[in-house]
Amino acid sequence: MVQTEVLRVHPTRPAAAKIKRAAAVLRQGGLVAFPTETVYGLGANALDEKAVARIFAAKGRPAYDPLIVHLATPEELPRVVREVPELAWTLARAFWPGPLTLVLPKAPNVPPNVTAGRHTVAVRVPSHPVAAALLRAADLPVAAPSANRFGHTSPTTAAHVLEDLNGRVDLVLDAGPTPVGVESTVLDLTAEEPTVLRPGGVSIEALAAVLGRPPRLAHPTVVEGAEVPAEGLASPGMLAKHYAPHAELWLLLGPQEAVLAEMRRRVLELACAGRRVGLLVADEDRARLEDVPAVLVSVGSVRRPAVIARRLYTALRELDRRAVEVILARDFGSAGLALAVRDRLLRASGGRVVWVEHEEGKTG
Ligand code: TXA
Ligand code: MG
Repeated sequence: MVQTEVLRVHPTRPAAAKIKRAAAVLRQGGLVAFPTETVYGLGANALDEKAVARIFAAKGRPAYDPLIVHLATPEELPRVVREVPELAWTLARAFWPGPLTLVLPKAPNVPPNVTAGRHTVAVRVPSHPVAAALLRAADLPVAAPSANRFGHTSPTTAAHVLEDLNGRVDLVLDAGPTPVGVESTVLDLTAEEPTVLRPGGVSIEALAAVLGRPPRLAHPTVVEGAEVPAEGLASPGMLAKHYAPHAELWLLLGPQEAVLAEMRRRVLELACAGRRVGLLVADEDRARLEDVPAVLVSVGSVRRPAVIARRLYTALRELDRRAVEVILARDFGSAGLALAVRDRLLRASGGRVVWVEHEEGKTG
């Protein structure tokens, strides 16, 4: 156990002295949790193998799961990347600083634990002013996974970080809630064609506009139009429980009417069995569910996927705090950031997905 120091900083104009203090902790091999535009990261000097090992220990993260390296500017890519393809520069110009992570060939000086022994390294240049200031002051590539215990919901506030990691991290920079709310989009540029390994803060539509066509998606379950293939969902490895609240989460996919009817049916059944149920819904659903015996949490209007993304993890933590045992979540579609929301809910469900085809009572 270490004593965790918390420094409050202004989200857009952080005090230089506090940034300097955090940078010094990183340079001495310590762990600093800091805000990025997506979620809070748990940072260490990416070129210091021992410091990086402390990240894995603090998170309880298995050694096979590689980390993202954060840089102050795109010009620093050669510090950690062996060879930067032209397409990486094009994407950097379009999306950096911002929530896009590129998987590129690793430079030899990056210790093997950062990349879990792979020959590729994931890198991004975050846009949050506090992250940017810290990276500039430390003058180091900083390896940082999301600052949560492994498998748990990612933190979008410093309080979330402390819930999971108090006493396991040297310093937390608290700049309030993070604006994007879901993690970066991970795009593999070492595959035969650009492949999205994780949908996130940069939408598929935005990537397609720069690439000239939609990127390949590594996970067919999150494909546009979502005829979610049953065999895909059955694959437990792909949906290994991740980004998850403590409660058991079920994701209900399908047309809104049918999903709400199924939610209502399940709540009543679970309530009868004496279980405390939480519902993760949209503003538009509230009126339809107000009378059901469940804790209702809305993440916003279905018309504003970016707001839903921003509120998702706080909503999941709130349902945990309100001690529900089962969460029934609706799907919010796949346009823009809603795709990342669907991906996280799929993973949080650990495969507990229900495809609701028809309204109650209908057949055929
Ligand atoms: O928004 C974000 O990306 C946040 C903030 C802190 O930057 N970070 C984050 O890190 O979400 P983490 O460790 O929770 O997720 C990193 C993801 C994992 O899915 C990991 O498998 C993948 O990136 N990844 C990292 N290095 C990789 C590599 N060399 N090849 C393929 N995937 C990689
Ligand atoms: Mg994570």
